[in-house]
Amino acid sequence: MRQPPVGAPVLGIESSCDETSAAVVSGGEVLGHVILSQDAHQRFGGVVPEIAARAHLRQLDAVVEATFSQAGIGPEDLAGVGVTAGPGLIGALLVGLNWAKGFAWARGLPLLGVHHMEAHLFANSLESREARPPFVALLVSGGHTLLLHAREWGRYELLGETRDDAAGEAFDKVARRLGLAYPGGPEIERVSRRGQPGRYTLPRPMLSGRDSPADPSFFDFSFSGLKTATALLAAELEAKADGEVEFEDRVPDLAAEFQQAVVDTLVGKVMRAVEWSGCGRVLLGGGVARNGVLRSRLASALESRGGELFAPSPRLAADNAAMVARLAEYRFSLGEQSGLDLNADPSLVFPGLVRRDPDLPGQGTSSGATCIPN
Ligand code: KG4
Ligand code: ZN
Repeated sequence: MRQPPVGAPVLGIESSCDETSAAVVSGGEVLGHVILSQDAHQRFGGVVPEIAARAHLRQLDAVVEATFSQAGIGPEDLAGVGVTAGPGLIGALLVGLNWAKGFAWARGLPLLGVHHMEAHLFANSLESREARPPFVALLVSGGHTLLLHAREWGRYELLGETRDDAAGEAFDKVARRLGLAYPGGPEIERVSRRGQPGRYTLPRPMLSGRDSPADPSFFDFSFSGLKTATALLAAELEAKADGEVEFEDRVPDLAAEFQQAVVDTLVGKVMRAVEWSGCGRVLLGGGVARNGVLRSRLASALESRGGELFAPSPRLAADNAAMVARLAEYRFSLGEQSGLDLNADPSLVFPGLVRRDPDLPGQGTSSGATCIPN
């Protein structure tokens, strides 16, 4: 199969969870992009896999059509097709993947299956040419919490990951416990504006001053204990409700303290990574990257150390197909493509990701800033 010429339009398809999305990207520029969020899940308090898969099936044709008309091009102008192959919900993934396969085969177009979390990383390069290696990256979504260090695209050093719940999952579960709607992240952020962190005290997990980079878990996260601590505190406050101060009145302060605890942990770990690697350029990605408190706290922590934060605009931080098309475009340019035997994999391995060796010293400690922008 021929390779797409560099800069020719690539169609991206995303269907790993509850967003049905298509995009046409050409030379890093978004020509057309449609994201259809499925709100059918709201009343269940979480994504129902079967409903998600059926909705993708119903919507995908129309989403792609709308994308083409936005881009002002047709299928005959495309040079390749990229699709999320995993990780995600298997039924949901299969809908997008089989659609992309059929479309590519019927038109003789090269096909490429991409990793959803690597695509979140590439979302940044749609908006800033400076968002490129070397960098430290924090990817925070509903299913993953990953802290990476990269000297080049495609080769990633895994510094840390969550030991239990992902950051977005913790937001969603705590929101549910506090009686808030799904998805929980934006709800917690909204309610927190009326509250104040510090009125209640929650733990900042795995962030002790005694930790050292030689500990294998120095950059790791854990949100399950924080989630339980929040639930216990909520139960205590519910029991204290006396008709004068109801539990609902305490939710804003509780939500604000929970959000602060998550943000403190994420910012703390990113700053450890910056110091350890000597790399002050930080890329953010995933749905939790929409959180305004996380963005502003991280931006100012980096600024005070001469670093810089790259965070996608809210639309490109959450699940979308432009990031998929962008990554596919990049990987096509390396001569890569998938065969028609490509399959969806709900736990697809992040390509090029290798866990850090805690016995090796970071660059930042020995020689200061080795992260020289190229
Ligand atoms: O990347 P994403 O759209 O889908 C996955 O790949 O999982 O991330 C979804 C997650 C959900 O857990 C959602 O609650 C969270 O991102 N999220 C937020 C915010 N907006 C979305 N978390 C915190 N604050 C937000 N504003
Ligand atoms: Zn995602």
